[in-house]
Amino acid sequence: MHYFQYSRGELHAEGIPLSRLVKSVGTPAYIYSYQTLVRHFQIFDGAFSALPHLTCYSVKANSNLALLRIFSRLGGGFDIVSQGELARALQAGADPRRIVFSGVGKTETELAAAVRAGVLLINVESVPELLLLSRVAKKCRRRVRISFRLNPDISAESHPYLTTGTPENKFGIDIKQALPVYLRAARLPFLEPAGIDCHIGSQITSLKPFVAVLGKLKGLISRLGRLGINISYLDLGGGLGITYRDEVPPHPDEYARVIGKELKGFPGSPLGITLILEPGRVIVGNAGILVARVLYSKKVGRKEFVITDAGMNDLIRPALYDSFHEIIPVRPRKGPRKKVDVVGPICESGDFFARDRKLPPLRSGDLLAVMGAGAYGFSMSSNYNSRPRAAEVLVRGSRFAVIRRRENQQDLTRGEIIPASLLK
Ligand code: LLP
Repeated sequence: MHYFQYSRGELHAEGIPLSRLVKSVGTPAYIYSYQTLVRHFQIFDGAFSALPHLTCYSVKANSNLALLRIFSRLGGGFDIVSQGELARALQAGADPRRIVFSGVGKTETELAAAVRAGVLLINVESVPELLLLSRVAKKCRRRVRISFRLNPDISAESHPYLTTGTPENKFGIDIKQALPVYLRAARLPFLEPAGIDCHIGSQITSLKPFVAVLGKLKGLISRLGRLGINISYLDLGGGLGITYRDEVPPHPDEYARVIGKELKGFPGSPLGITLILEPGRVIVGNAGILVARVLYSKKVGRKEFVITDAGMNDLIRPALYDSFHEIIPVRPRKGPRKKVDVVGPICESGDFFARDRKLPPLRSGDLLAVMGAGAYGFSMSSNYNSRPRAAEVLVRGSRFAVIRRRENQQDLTRGEIIPASLLK
């Protein structure tokens, strides 16, 4: 459910007609609904209220500071994968003791920054990373709580690029190696193996893989307990899918109920286990849209193209994953629907938002809304073709605020240097 609805023939973001909004902020623009963001966070977090848990919003899905501030105020923690995301979360007011740090390629500098910030857990993904972290912790004179991210060999049954928990993927430590790796970590004086972590993929629409993961992790936690290693944090990662088209993902309540059932009577450590969840898409996906303006329409051969002022640099998901995003006119015109390709201005044939999509008549100047663009939309956008990145806007009721201004020409060449000495 989201708060982008038609009223009097025009699509609104909460209480604001989109044509009015873009008159002020221009296009292309990412528009987020405050009420939807809050609602999604609360539904997800609330679903787990019966269990000791921490909802660590996955910053990569959408890392705008304003959104991070919202989730932090709602009591959320954060799942980060870089020093940049750490800095953002802290700047937005996050409590470092509610931050977990994942990622296969953390550098020494990044590990040191996380140790100094005092994050809750560092999710270690390889033995060399473990040894580096041990040195970093010693240098910083800090005892560091760690989890191992395990690769459980369970398919997320999602797009191949969005599957992370099989031996084909670079992520985590082979679950078969888990016991020796934990024992090794337990001998390192500055590290405290306190958690276990799995993230098997994204846009998962069935509960089966989650239950399978939980089954494997429970067995391991018990075995570790017998070896004297107490696991107090069980991190199930993110991955819960959303509806882009006709997917029917489980509701967070159902997801929480099934996980709760699996964990019933499972104390794990003497103090019991805190569950960590790292949702990204399910919180922000449907809380954001990309609004673009139609520049031209033209026919090439049998195909009709609608060319917009947004391109794959603004939203790369269709090009990268062939993913579906609903596209709707902000003010639908009457008339027969026609099959068109909605494309951007970028010099790549992969620059499309939809192919052979039936849409009502469109004219130059019309506004289109690309729905479900809140997750992995702006955060994956780029300056390809030297295009400034879009503005981001937060709407709350009948008020709005620009939460990232549109980039300008100076932004585009910032940091570039013509080296006079080499180019004499
Ligand atoms: N935790 C970890 C360690 C992750 O790698 C991810 C996402 C998440 C949590 C959040 O997953 P979510 O709840 O959003 O599914 N760019 C792709 C999605 C890549 C997901 C990467 N990892 C897309 O546009 O679909």
